[in-house]
Parts: sequence; structure tokens; C-alpha cells
Amino acid sequence: MPGARWPEGGENKGIAADNLGKGTMGKEALSIVDQRTQAAYEIPIHDGTIRAMDLRQIKTGPEDFGLMSYDPAFMNTASCRSSITFIDGDKGILRYRGYPIEQLAEKCSFLEVAYLVLSGELPTEPQLKEWVADITHHTMLHETTKKFLEGFRHDAHPMGMLASTVAALSTVYPESREVLDPKVRALQIRRLIGKMPTIAAYTYRHSLGYPYVYPDNELSYTENFMNMLWKMVEPKYIANPVLARALDILFILHADHEQNCSANAMRSVGSSHADPFLATAAAAAALSGPLHGGANEEVLKMLDEIGSKDKVPAYIAKVKAGEFKLMGFGHRIYKNYDPRARIIKWAADKVFEVTGRNPKLEIALELERIALEDEYFIKRKLYPNVDFYSGIIYQAMGFQPAMLTVLFAIPRTVGWLAQWQEMLCDAEQKIARPRQVFTGQAARDFVPLEKRGVTAAPTAA
Ligand code: CMC
Repeated sequence: MPGARWPEGGENKGIAADNLGKGTMGKEALSIVDQRTQAAYEIPIHDGTIRAMDLRQIKTGPEDFGLMSYDPAFMNTASCRSSITFIDGDKGILRYRGYPIEQLAEKCSFLEVAYLVLSGELPTEPQLKEWVADITHHTMLHETTKKFLEGFRHDAHPMGMLASTVAALSTVYPESREVLDPKVRALQIRRLIGKMPTIAAYTYRHSLGYPYVYPDNELSYTENFMNMLWKMVEPKYIANPVLARALDILFILHADHEQNCSANAMRSVGSSHADPFLATAAAAAALSGPLHGGANEEVLKMLDEIGSKDKVPAYIAKVKAGEFKLMGFGHRIYKNYDPRARIIKWAADKVFEVTGRNPKLEIALELERIALEDEYFIKRKLYPNVDFYSGIIYQAMGFQPAMLTVLFAIPRTVGWLAQWQEMLCDAEQKIARPRQVFTGQAARDFVPLEKRGVTAAPTAA
């Protein structure tokens, strides 16, 4: 966000304690009294936040470094100002650039939403035409990249292959390092969005030992992806339009989700001015974990393990006993039904009309029914998240569970790039560098090897 700066602030001096509270009613400020020194401070509040750097002035003396805030896992820390995605977790609201996710899923194509997420506005007809043509003409992979993929073992996890191959693109496009050049950035954004489905499809074909299918420029983004996945010997692949549209909707739902673990990885790595291919590989690595995008694969494993509807109560009992988590449930931000899960449930019905019902749906619906009535889940505000039903649809469409996180990564690349671009254009951002509270040894003298006793040696080397 160029020019998006905070109003004046950050230079606050402590004010006398007896002035505190006088005439401050309605003022956007926080009054603090440091009980260690009795000094009083007034910290400005903007947009419901205080600046952590404003705490630094709170000191016990000139030698004191100053107060910091301690927030492992960023539970209550805004790391940026962003105008891309809005979430109200209590109300279950998700909007991209102000537009409700429900309207976008119903009325837009994925590439239209990608344009919106990246540029801030829905495209006009000529803009959309040009954008789609641009993305379509960046779907091919360099032949050396294809060879690179061939080097993976046949049973390599698709997410490992995807993240490594995206990183390898950095070597194909060395000019991508010019991250401060808007033209260079625009080109890499098109390349990444264009090539992601090609890499994803190649990882799938590689696992099966099938020959790679080259992109078909006459097809839409999702139809072409399906072509590269499933074309066999037919001269022209014709995608089922219902499945192609369902995939498009799923991609729209996954396009961005503000400051989640992978977006944070993208911003953090990108803040060192690493090129976007390497930063995207880092974001994909973050996504692969089972607590983030990897949860969709875990949901399918869990449903397999449960096996049948009648085993659900026993499984829930184990979750409540703390043996494991219910995968696809719970969210750091949503304390209400994830709006994406609602849309996915609706899209599932359309998909099942074509593919037949996935038998796992019965178990999932029973899990949801029991969990939503159970005190444990009610008290903790645990609802199904986006990953709870997405795997069931994807599996019905013919995807193997290991591919599911890759299917998440394709559309999320748009969000990662939008977050990356916003970070680079934000004059307030610098290289990301958190502080720590040091809990280790105080300074001590080196002990030569022959003088080290068994007990002196650290146990965890
Ligand atoms: N099953 C059972 N209990 C849960 C679950 C769950 N899925 N999620 C949270 N809890 C409990 C947790 O044990 C804790 O209980 P207590 O207060 O007794 O200690 C309480 O709810 C609060 O949970 P938390 O771990 O503090 O919440 P968090 O914000 O740190 O974690 C989460 C969020 C998504 C990592 C977590 O809910 C989880 O592990 N869910 C399962 C994995 C999953 O579905 N991940 C996909 C997230 S959505 C897509 C994405 O963004 O990638």
C-alpha cells in the first residue's frame, strides 16, 4: 500500500502521573502507569492498536532497553496494515477487497477474483481478457524444469515436489530478484499464477508414472489444469463443466485468507527481498503442515480411520480426552462457522450429482452434527473449517489425498503474491525481525574439553 503510513506518533514522551486521565475521555489513547517507576505514559491508539515501538520509551532507567510485548504465535499482534482480505471471525464473514466471498464464488471466475485480489478492483471486460491471455501464455514450464521434476522418487509427496520446483524456478528467471521493479514483479506474478497448475499436474503425473501433458491455451484455467491432470490418449480433453466450475469455486474460496501462517512466511521471507519464487516456495512449505493446508489430507485419513458413522461417538470421546485433534475443525480467527465450509458443502452437492456421493460424507456429516451439539466444541467455539469438506469433494472428483494441499497451494499463490506485493510497496515495512526474551545462560568462560565433566555438558546438542 504505497503511502499508507500511520498518523504522527511513536515519539511519545512520558507525561506526569497527575495529568493522567485529565481531559482524556474519548481520546484515542492508552494511559499507562509503570508501577516499577510510577512514571505515566500516554500511548496513541490507531485502528484499535497501539504501536509496539511506543512501549520502548517505558524504562526503569537509562540502561534499560525498554518495554517489549511478548506474543508467541502472534496471538494478538498485527504485523501489517492490509487492504486485501477482511475476516470477522465471530460473525463468520470473509471478504476480498470488500466483496463478500459468497458473491464472488457465485458470480466470478477464479482468474477474475485473482485480478481483484491482486489489483484491488474487479477487472473490466478488456482488462479481464488481457489478464486471462497473460496468465494463459505463462503456463508452460521450461524443459529443464520438467527434467528437474523427473528426478524425484516415484513416491515423493506432491507438496515436497511442488515447493522444490517452485524454488527451482528462481534459477530459470534470475531477473526475478529485481523485486523493487514493478514491471519485473508483474511478470513474475503472471508466471507464478500461470505455472502453478502445470507444476501441480506434473507432480501428479509423476507419481503415476504417466507422461506429462502440455498446457492447452484454448481451455480455461481450471479446464486446462484438469487437461494436464487427466488427459490420456484422446486428441482433445473435454472437462466436465460442473467439475470445472466446482474447481473454480474451490479456487476462489482458497485465494487468500489474510495473515495466516503461509502468508506470514511469504511476507517474512519476501521482506529480505528474496525473489518471489523462493518466497512462494517458503509459503508453500508453511502451507504443507497438518495444522494449516495439510489439514485437508489429514481429514480424509481421519474419516478412513473412523470407518463408519456408528464409530463417530467413540472418536469424538477420544478427541475430548485430548488424544488428538478433530482435523478440519477449529480456527485461530473463525469462532463461528467458516463461510468457506458452508459454500463447499453447497458445491459438494453439485459435484456428487456428477460423481456419485463420496461415502465419507456420511461420516463427516455425523461428525459435524455431534461436534456442534457437544459442550466441548461449543465452549471452545470449534466449527468446521475450509478443510473439513474440501477433501471430500476433491476425492470425489478423482484426486488422491496427497494432492489436496497442492490444490490449496494453486489458488493461494494469488494471495501470497498480493501479500508480498503489498508488503514491498508499504513504506513502513522493513526486513521482518522479531525480538526475543532471552532465557539462556548468562556470560561464562569457555571450558576446555578435558576439563568438562559429564554433568556440565548440555544434553540437547
Ligand atoms: N479438535 C479438538 N480440540 C481443538 C481443536 C480441534 N480441531 N482445535 C482447537 N481445539 C481446542 C484446543 O485443544 C484448545 O483447548 P483447551 O482450551 O482445552 O486447551 C482450544 O480448542 C483452543 O485451541 P488452540 O489450539 O489454542 O487454537 P489455535 O488458534 O492455536 O489453533 C488450529 C487453531 C486451526 C491450529 C486448531 O484449531 C487445529 O489444530 N485444528 C485442526 C487442524 C486444522 O483443521 N487446521 C486447518 C485450519 S483452517 C485452514 C488453514 O488455515 O490452513
